[in-house]
Amino acid sequence: MQFDEFAAFEKNGWEHVVPSYEDYFGRLTVQSHPALLDALAVGPGTRMLDVASGPGYLAEAAIERGATATAVDFSASMIAHARQLHPEIEFHIARAEHLPFGDESFDAVGINFGMLHFPEPERALEEAARVLRADGRIAFTVWAGPERAIGFGMVLDAIQLHGKPDVGMPPGPPFFRFSDADECVRVLTEAGFTHARADEVEQTWHLVLPETPLDGLMHGGVRVAALLRAQSKSALALIEQEVRTRVKAYSRHGELLIPMPCMLASAIKP
Ligand SMILES: C[S@@+](CC[C@H](N)C(=O)[O-])C[C@H]1O[C@@H](n2cnc3c(N)ncnc32)[C@H](O)[C@@H]1O
Repeated sequence: MQFDEFAAFEKNGWEHVVPSYEDYFGRLTVQSHPALLDALAVGPGTRMLDVASGPGYLAEAAIERGATATAVDFSASMIAHARQLHPEIEFHIARAEHLPFGDESFDAVGINFGMLHFPEPERALEEAARVLRADGRIAFTVWAGPERAIGFGMVLDAIQLHGKPDVGMPPGPPFFRFSDADECVRVLTEAGFTHARADEVEQTWHLVLPETPLDGLMHGGVRVAALLRAQSKSALALIEQEVRTRVKAYSRHGELLIPMPCMLASAIKP
């Protein structure tokens, strides 16, 4: 595989961030659910698969609509936590690129903020297509680009200004590749899906100072976290200061409201 080292780095990272992922992202990534579940046409009786489920938020939301849900994630600690939260959901430890299910087992496959982490996203789409029945639906979300997902933008800009953007991390697929609607449509169409489309969905990151997006990205994720941790102490202090200055524009009544839209892509298996 082209990104072997990256795959191991991501896997190791996601084994160690479970509580902080929930703390920082648990109320953010769920904001895409209504649009994502609508795109998947999830309703009573739908058999939905949640891929890269993390703590199982999407599977839980599908069940609230009367669907049945199964979920997979490659992080054993994420799955252990997800099982505790949702004993009623069937969770599997598995890679998105090798799903442990037979052909045509699901009506819908949802991937909420997973695609940008996969070393082989095309292979994950092939697997999704395999486990979907004809007329079944696929939908995934990724962060919008850093100029729109402001929490990412301000931290990455600050690293560019005061730190080192290149710290010798294992090369991986471009983080914002699928923030481009045309690229989403292209990759879905190439994987054999029809009716591919991609639209932005609004989301807002609610934080309370002294916490800023830098804390969320440093403790609740993997790739940007590693980039931040590789900065020198003095550079990190300047990066923190830069972010603290920039968040002021997003302060409302003692809270930070940071725009963090996502791209939602969806399609149908012919
Ligand atoms: C940003 S979290 C998203 C979690 C959840 N879907 C949500 O919406 O909050 C990314 C998740 O993808 C999982 N993941 C990353 N690469 C994966 C892969 N190749 N196969 C399966 N899971 C993967 C991680 O373990 C992590 O739980």
